[in-house]
Amino acid sequence: MLKQETIQIIKATVPVLEVHGVEITKTFYKNMFQAHPELLNIFNHTNQEKGRQQTALANTVYAAAVHIENLEAILPAVMLIAHKHRSLGILPEHYPIVGENLLKAIKEVLGDAATDDIINAWAEAYGVIADVFIQVEEELYQKAENNGGWRLFRPLKVAKKVVESDLVTSVYFVNEDGSALPAYEPGQYISIRVKVPGVEYLMNRQYTLSQASAEDGYRISVKRESDQTPNGKVSNFIHDDLQVGDLVDVSVPAGLFVLEETTAPITFVSGGIGVTPLNSMLQSLKDDATNKVNFIQCARNEKVVAFSDDIQGKVNALPNASYTALYSDENKQITKELLAERVADNADVYVCGPVGFMEAVIKNLQEIGVKDEKIHYEFFGPAMQLAK
Ligand code: HEM
Repeated sequence: MLKQETIQIIKATVPVLEVHGVEITKTFYKNMFQAHPELLNIFNHTNQEKGRQQTALANTVYAAAVHIENLEAILPAVMLIAHKHRSLGILPEHYPIVGENLLKAIKEVLGDAATDDIINAWAEAYGVIADVFIQVEEELYQKAENNGGWRLFRPLKVAKKVVESDLVTSVYFVNEDGSALPAYEPGQYISIRVKVPGVEYLMNRQYTLSQASAEDGYRISVKRESDQTPNGKVSNFIHDDLQVGDLVDVSVPAGLFVLEETTAPITFVSGGIGVTPLNSMLQSLKDDATNKVNFIQCARNEKVVAFSDDIQGKVNALPNASYTALYSDENKQITKELLAERVADNADVYVCGPVGFMEAVIKNLQEIGVKDEKIHYEFFGPAMQLAK
């Protein structure tokens, strides 16, 4: 355990580091990728360009350091990150590289203000935090293997591609030898690792599995992003270049945004491509499930909406379910009043969509009295939540 003195130094310096957070993390990534360019095969280049991951990692280290005496308190956030790390194949030997470069960056940015005492305290704290992640991730690797899966990436074959709408195409992955893939929980995602022509390093992306665990393989449903943005590189590659029969490196399903078993009513609220985990959850309900179910799907219009037929079909099969599609091009928006009608007493509500959409829906749900523990959503950037 850390000495009281070390803990005091950590707590006293967190605010200083946070002020210089962006500068420290930019310096950290620049130095780290210079010394270890092979890590560019792991990190998401888009996040780098947008500075997203730059703040996520450092903020989490700072936030975890604040809770260093009671790391149990932040275990839920650690678990979310560990799932992401496990799906990307992050290994124990990566941690010292991150630690060394983070400390160097702190020293570089703070200059003389970063005394030996401060640097040593942070080195110790980072060690403790890294050990927690390494241990939790090892448990997840073992769980993946014990569940009939594999540790890192395995080449899976593209069995078919299906155009779902003007914007969304699904890809089905299967084992090359035809054997079954491990089952997963509805709402989970996989990481894929691809070589995009013209891009020097491998690119990793997470995509939600968009159907319930099924025998025809892992299905992802990818929205085509603008090819003018770094975001669009992988999605355009998948839409235009990836062929049936190709092999793609895939990791075992991961993630904690999953449907919890319940007899309570359930409302699903999706925005755009956020429909993928929610469709998977809906489809996984047994046809005789007696839960009252409401599915609200928001999209721009009928041409770009995905899975509306699947959702309608499942809703028809369930004894007590309804479906509402709202198209913004027809001026139909989700409102507090509509939510009040569609969210039954004691319902669990699952929300997924763009960040602004989720914030608005969650605020409305809170205003109509839905308790926080009944609102389930995928938060992009647990670090931010943790840091609060
Ligand atoms: C993602 C924290 C160590 C590689 C993340 C995220 C956080 C985080 C908060 C965002 C999670 C999300 O998007 O859901 C940390 C902390 C670490 C640590 C606190 C140390 C204690 C590492 C190490 C590596 C690594 C050692 C590998 C060298 C990644 C990658 C992502 C990620 C590749 C995905 C996002 C991206 O590609 O930009 N980490 N991380 N992390 N982490 Fe870590």
